[in-house]
Amino acid sequence: MAWILNKSAVGKALRIFVKTYGCQMNERDSEMILSQLQRAGHVIAANESVADVVILNTCSIREQAEVKALGKSGYLSRRKRADPNFRIGIVGCMAENFGGKLFELNSAIDFVVGPRRLHELADVIANGMDNLRTGEPGKENFSQGFDHLRSQSKCTAFVSIMQGCNMRCSYCIVPRTRGRESYRRMDDVAEEVKFLARNGVREITLLGQIVNSYGGRKMSIAGGKTPFVQLLEKLSEVDGILRIRYMSPHPCSFSNDLIAAHGNLPKLCPAVHLPIQSGSDRILSDMRRQYTGEKILQIVEKLRAAVPHIGLSTDVIVGYPGETEEDFAETVSLFDSAKFNMAFVFKYSPRAGTKSAEMVDDVPESEKVRRNQILLKHIEEASLRCHRQFVDHTVEVLVEGRAKRGENMMFGWTPNHLKVIFETAGNAIGEIVRVRVTSFAATVLCGVVA
Ligand code: SAH
Ligand code: SF4
Ligand code: F3S
Repeated sequence: MAWILNKSAVGKALRIFVKTYGCQMNERDSEMILSQLQRAGHVIAANESVADVVILNTCSIREQAEVKALGKSGYLSRRKRADPNFRIGIVGCMAENFGGKLFELNSAIDFVVGPRRLHELADVIANGMDNLRTGEPGKENFSQGFDHLRSQSKCTAFVSIMQGCNMRCSYCIVPRTRGRESYRRMDDVAEEVKFLARNGVREITLLGQIVNSYGGRKMSIAGGKTPFVQLLEKLSEVDGILRIRYMSPHPCSFSNDLIAAHGNLPKLCPAVHLPIQSGSDRILSDMRRQYTGEKILQIVEKLRAAVPHIGLSTDVIVGYPGETEEDFAETVSLFDSAKFNMAFVFKYSPRAGTKSAEMVDDVPESEKVRRNQILLKHIEEASLRCHRQFVDHTVEVLVEGRAKRGENMMFGWTPNHLKVIFETAGNAIGEIVRVRVTSFAATVLCGVVA
């Protein structure tokens, strides 16, 4: 596909709107896109309808995510018929997964840029590009550092520490869309975090497909500590940063030094998102997850011994090929015994090119829905049980912003990652306030400033 999108031909800086699908990785990438394009002289459009260019930063993790973005590009193509100068870009995981096929699916699409080429986006928009290919080896740049767009109202930030994934979970498209693991230098990450702290950020979330494999074989263990723990220690020293989180660790590399770090590093939040995917060892082995339900329980037990009030959440897939009623019962049982207080449940979605897509997707949709609902019920009960313990207690909340409803209502999160809505007269974004919990629902604690 040869196309030209030339800023000077349009005669003004372009108004850009980015719509984000998918995970936190994409949220971070979208921020990087906007910061890059702003530096190149473009402006951020307040909304889609006033933009000259709409960029969809897409996700391929489940079919539904792709259907949504394609539907959106179809909708945008109608606008293009009325205004030929209007441009549509597809970037992110679908760009990598589909490549040039996207132009066949929707001829109104102007450019396609995969996640490992996003650092070239400003060039692409300024100069146009012939025969654009995505993810070309050698040309990919680990474009993870960038000048964050800072607005005074944000006190949290995502910080990417690595790209890609070397695992081969049978169901997962990510290794294909994001490539093999590459790690940012520790000093570069620290510089970015210092910059963020100077700009009012108080909480950072370190991002990677498997954060605890940070460094891989390229960085060494020092003082008995894995590179990820070394990085946590280094970032703990940054003044102004009050809280550090990370997403997501993999159970198979959940080392003892990371568990110890939770006991030793005061800024490291007592909250871990530990994706289990299934509680059936047979299914886990088929998924190539490299751990058992027993191993999950051991990690959880050690974490609780190190940090008694640790918040634990997880990801679960229901309806994986061949998942029987017994397998599913084991998943529910593992969820309950590990006492997770939150979970994301996904209905299995076959992804072309993955190992499990070669198997028959034999659990009917109605059964996936049923299993999903059963698990959601358990999650709701677990969450209510967790929240109930906090009534009449005081929790520390990092204030993130104004709540959607109610005058003088603000919201924020506790260290163990519970959302709190509370009443206050002052506007204290970025401050940690003590809130007395007065009531709760499944998704939120409510209270007043103590
Ligand atoms: N790197 C992370 C997962 C990133 S993808 C990890 O290994 O934990 C986020 C979640 O999407 C996964 O944890 C999994 O629960 C879900 N997921 C991935 N592929 C899926 C598929 N084909 N169908 C349904 N859910 C899927
Ligand atoms: Fe996907 Fe598995 Fe890698 Fe997570 S660890 S991104 S589920 S392949
Ligand atoms: Fe994230 Fe979706 Fe890609 S979950 S890594 S945006 S496939």
